[in-house]
Amino acid sequence: MEAAAAATNVGVFVSALVATLTYLNYEYFDTENRPIDVATDQLLDRYDFIVVGSGSAGAVVANRLSEVERWNVLLLEAGGDETEISDVPLMAAYLQQSQLDWKYKSEPQGQACLAMENGRCNWPRGKVIGGSSTLNYMLYLRGNKKDYDIWESLGNPGWGSADALYYFKKSEDNKNPYLIQTHYHSSGGYLTVSEPPYRTPLVAAFLEAGKQLGYKNRDINGEHQSGFMMAQGTIRNGARCSTGKAFLRPIRLRPNLHVAMNSHVTRVLIDPVSKITFGVEFLRDGKLYRIRARKEVILSAGAVNSPQLLMLSGIGPKKELERHKIPVIQDLQVGNNLQDHIGLGGLTFLINRPDSITLDRVYSVGTVMQYAVWGGGPLTIMGGVEGLAFVNTKYANASDDFPDIEFHFVSGSTHSDRGAQLKKAHGLSDLFYNRVFKSIENQDAWSVIPMLLRPRSRGTIRLRSKRPLDPPLIYPNYFFDDFDMKTLIEGAKIGVALSQTPAFQSYGSRLHEFPQCSPLGKYSDKFFECMIRLYSATIYHPVGTAKMGPYWDQQAVVDPQLRVYGIKGLRVIDASIMPNLVSGNTNAPVIMIGEKGSDLIKEFWLKKI
Ligand SMILES: Cc1cc2nc3c(=O)[nH]c(=O)nc-3n(C[C@H](O)[C@H](O)[C@H](O)COP(=O)(O)OP(=O)(O)OC[C@H]3O[C@@H](n4cnc5c(N)ncnc54)[C@H](O)[C@@H]3O)c2cc1C
Ligand SMILES: *[C@@H]1O[C@H](CO)[C@@H](O)[C@H](O)[C@H]1NC(C)=O
Repeated sequence: MEAAAAATNVGVFVSALVATLTYLNYEYFDTENRPIDVATDQLLDRYDFIVVGSGSAGAVVANRLSEVERWNVLLLEAGGDETEISDVPLMAAYLQQSQLDWKYKSEPQGQACLAMENGRCNWPRGKVIGGSSTLNYMLYLRGNKKDYDIWESLGNPGWGSADALYYFKKSEDNKNPYLIQTHYHSSGGYLTVSEPPYRTPLVAAFLEAGKQLGYKNRDINGEHQSGFMMAQGTIRNGARCSTGKAFLRPIRLRPNLHVAMNSHVTRVLIDPVSKITFGVEFLRDGKLYRIRARKEVILSAGAVNSPQLLMLSGIGPKKELERHKIPVIQDLQVGNNLQDHIGLGGLTFLINRPDSITLDRVYSVGTVMQYAVWGGGPLTIMGGVEGLAFVNTKYANASDDFPDIEFHFVSGSTHSDRGAQLKKAHGLSDLFYNRVFKSIENQDAWSVIPMLLRPRSRGTIRLRSKRPLDPPLIYPNYFFDDFDMKTLIEGAKIGVALSQTPAFQSYGSRLHEFPQCSPLGKYSDKFFECMIRLYSATIYHPVGTAKMGPYWDQQAVVDPQLRVYGIKGLRVIDASIMPNLVSGNTNAPVIMIGEKGSDLIKEFWLKKI
C-alpha cells in the first residue's frame, strides 16, 4: 500500500513537472530544435550511407558523415524523440521500463541478481533518439589510458591512448574553466560536459573521505586516474545533453541527412555470393521497407542489438545460425566476448543529518520551479550520483595507476524514493525490497556502488529466434570467473572503510545490513559475497560482442577499420567493437569510437576519389 502511495506521488510529481515545463515552453528556451522525422514517402530509394541506430555512436556518425555535402545519409532509429522527462537529470531511473527502454532482461543464471524477479537482471537500453545516452546517468568518464594502449597492443593500430585523447577532445565542450586549461580537455565541441549546478553537503564529505583514505582529489579523466572527484556529466544548462541533443539537433537542417524515427531495422541486405552489402530492411508503421546503400551500411545499434542484427543477416557463429535456419553468409564470433561492469547495489549507510536526497524532500513545487526556471536545484543531480572515485584493492598494483574498482557515490539509496522507482528499475522482488529496505524508508542515507573495472568473465548474446522483434538472449555470466567475485568483495570492503573515515563518521554513518547476510558474520568475505550475489548491479556497460581485432584474431568480428570481416560495405561502430571493456563508464568512450570510426570512413572514401 505504502509503495503504491509513493508511486502515485511520483506520478503526480511527474505530471506536475511535465505541465510546468510545457507551460514555461521549456523547449522554446532551448537554442536548438529537435531533429526532423522524415516521412516515409519523403525517403529516397538509396543513400550513400545508412546508419542504423542514433545512440552514443550513431548520432556522431550521422553528423560527421553528413559533413561531406556530396554524401547523403539516412539515420534509422527504432525509437522516437526525447521527452521533457528524459531531460531531467535526477529522473534518469524513471526512464527505465518506459517506452524509451528496450526493457531487456538477462537469462537467469543462478550466480547473480538473486534479489531480482526470477533471478533476471534488468538490462535497460535506450530506444529513443540518443539511444542509451538519453537513458543513462550522464556521468562523463573516459577510462584508463592503459585500456587504449592495450587495444593497440592487441593489433589495432590507431587505437592507442593518444589517438583516443584526440577524439575525446574533438567532441568535447567542457564548461569547467580550470579543466579546459589542461592538456586533457577542450571546449567548443558538440558535447557539453559540466558539473551539475547543485550539490548536497554529502559530496563534500565524500571528497574529504577520499583524502582520509589516502587518495587525491583530482581530475580522474586527466593525467592520473586513481583518486576522487565531483562528477562531471553530459549536462547542458542543468539538463541532459544526449548525443541526440549534442550531435543531431544542431544539424537538423542539413539537406543531405534524413532521420527516420520509429524505424526498426530487421536485417542488413547482403548478396550471399559477392558478399557485398546493398541495403537494409526495416519496419515502420507495421510495413516492411527496403532502402539501398550505395557505399556502406553502418551498424550503431549497440552491444545487444548490433550482434542480433548481424546474426539475423547471416553473419555469426555457424552453429547458432543453423540452429535458427538462417543461411550463413559469414561465420564469425558474433555475440561472444560480452563484458559488462557489475557492482554491488544497496551498500547503504544510514546517517543522522537531513542531507540526503529523498522523495519527500525533492519532489516539490519548489524544486520543479528551480529546475524549470533556472536549470538548477536538486533535479539537476545525475540520477543521484554526485561523486566518483577510482581505488585499488589488494589485487591491484597501487603505484601503477590502473585501479580495479570504481565508486559511484550516491547521496541517497534504494529506499530513498520509498520504493517508487529504483526498486522497479533494478527489478528487485517485493520480498527482497520489503525485507531489506522497507523499515528504513524514512531515514537519511548515502550509498556507494563499488564496481568491478575489468571483469574476467565473458558472456554471450544469442538469438531467441529468427523473428527480428524477439528480444535476444542475454547471458552475462557474471562471476563465472571467481576472481571477479574476490575483487568485488575487496571493493565492498573499501566502501565500508569509506564510511569509517572521520568525514563520514561526523554523519554517524553506519552500514545497513541485508538481514539474510548477517548470519554469515559482519564484514566477512561470505557476508559481502552474499550481498553481491543478491543485489548484483549492472552499471549498464555491455560491450565487446563484435570484437575489433587483427585478421589473426579468431575472435575478431571487425578489423581495426571497423569493417566486418569477409563482407564489403558493412561496418560496426558502437560499444560492440571494444576488444576489452574500458576501466570506466562507457558513454564517452563510445562517442570517441563514433568520432574515430567516422574519420576511418572518410579516409577510405575520400582518398579513393
Ligand atoms: C541506464 C543506463 C545508465 C548508464 N549510465 C552511464 C553513465 O552515467 N555514464 C556513461 O558513460 N555510460 C552510461 N551508460 C552506458 C552508455 O550510455 C552506453 O555504453 C552507450 O550509450 C552505448 O552506446 P551505443 O552507441 O553502443 O548504443 P546505444 O546508445 O544504446 O544506441 C543504440 C541505438 O540503436 C537503436 N537501435 C537498436 N536496434 C535497432 C534496430 N534494429 N533498428 C533501428 N534502431 C535500432 C537503439 O534504439 C538506440 O537508439 C548507461 C547506460 C544505461 C542503459
Ligand atoms: C607496480 O607498478 C610499478 C609502476 O608501474 C612497477 O615499477 C612495479 O614493478 C609494480 N610492482 C609489481 C609487484 O608488479
